[in-house]
Amino acid sequence: MKLRETKEFFQNELNGLYEAEEINNFFNILIEFYLGLNRLNFALNPEQIFSIEEYQPILNGLKALKKNIPIQYIIGETEFFGLPFKVNASVLIPRPETEELVQWILKNQSKTKNNLSILDIGTGSGCIAISLANNLPNATVYALDVSKEALKTAAQNAELNHVNVEFIEASILNSKTWNSYFKNLKFDIIVSNPPYVRELEKEQMKANVLDNEPHLALFVDDEDSLKFYKAITQFAVDNLKDKGCLFFEINEYLGNSMIQLLKDYNFNDVVLKQDIFKKDRMIKGTKKG
Ligand SMILES: C[S@@+](CC[C@H](N)C(=O)[O-])C[C@H]1O[C@@H](n2cnc3c(N)ncnc32)[C@H](O)[C@@H]1O
Repeated sequence: MKLRETKEFFQNELNGLYEAEEINNFFNILIEFYLGLNRLNFALNPEQIFSIEEYQPILNGLKALKKNIPIQYIIGETEFFGLPFKVNASVLIPRPETEELVQWILKNQSKTKNNLSILDIGTGSGCIAISLANNLPNATVYALDVSKEALKTAAQNAELNHVNVEFIEASILNSKTWNSYFKNLKFDIIVSNPPYVRELEKEQMKANVLDNEPHLALFVDDEDSLKFYKAITQFAVDNLKDKGCLFFEINEYLGNSMIQLLKDYNFNDVVLKQDIFKKDRMIKGTKKG
């Protein structure tokens, strides 16, 4: 079957489920991943013929797309901060707004500072910890998650990107699981993108996120929507060095509550920052020295 015909079939099958541009994008990703063809190869040789066996993974991808499975889970990888990351159903697919958080942390940091120690809480795929380790070669980076499966994937990603990150399996909500580990450790930077989507916001979410991404990574009860932020801020009070910085990705609707929270815990220089879509998305505070 010709490549052009396969593309037409693919477009017809997904028509109405996704925007035309998105469908083309999916097709390009799949032919690049499974057939090693980029956009230009397709444009130059649309009549190229492949066997049904060669097309099989693309047809499987099509089936999965019809079930709303995100393309990143279908091919099992994505890119974050210019680095490759393995992803699967146990980890959240890293988001562009989280790249902005990493960028902000790096801007606040000298690349050459020695003995910098960093902790990422709720590491998931490891995207924040690993990109920081990659860009701050003198830093010692730790990353914590409650999910064993997520930590397995994060460890693979650290290896894939040739960085050292120390992974810790613990629940940030239960000090018994991490108390002894952090007894003698103090950090210059603590960062977290914890679960922050309230149940009441579920309705606004796309089916591909809701049906496929881990709910453990996404949701928090409406009644105590800042519970992760409170626990992590208290942890930061106890475990940051003096003048150390706490960085969070936040729910766009909770910017003011987050400012208040950091002030209540006596953080200085509290800065709320918007993402490129002008949504309140990040906050930082500095521990008093
Ligand atoms: C929003 S995801 C962030 C993942 C990744 N850091 C990112 O930015 O893409 C939140 C992460 O917190 C983890 N998590 C949920 N409850 C936790 C807990 N009680 N203690 C530690 N981590 C937890 C989830 O497993 C998930 O990996």
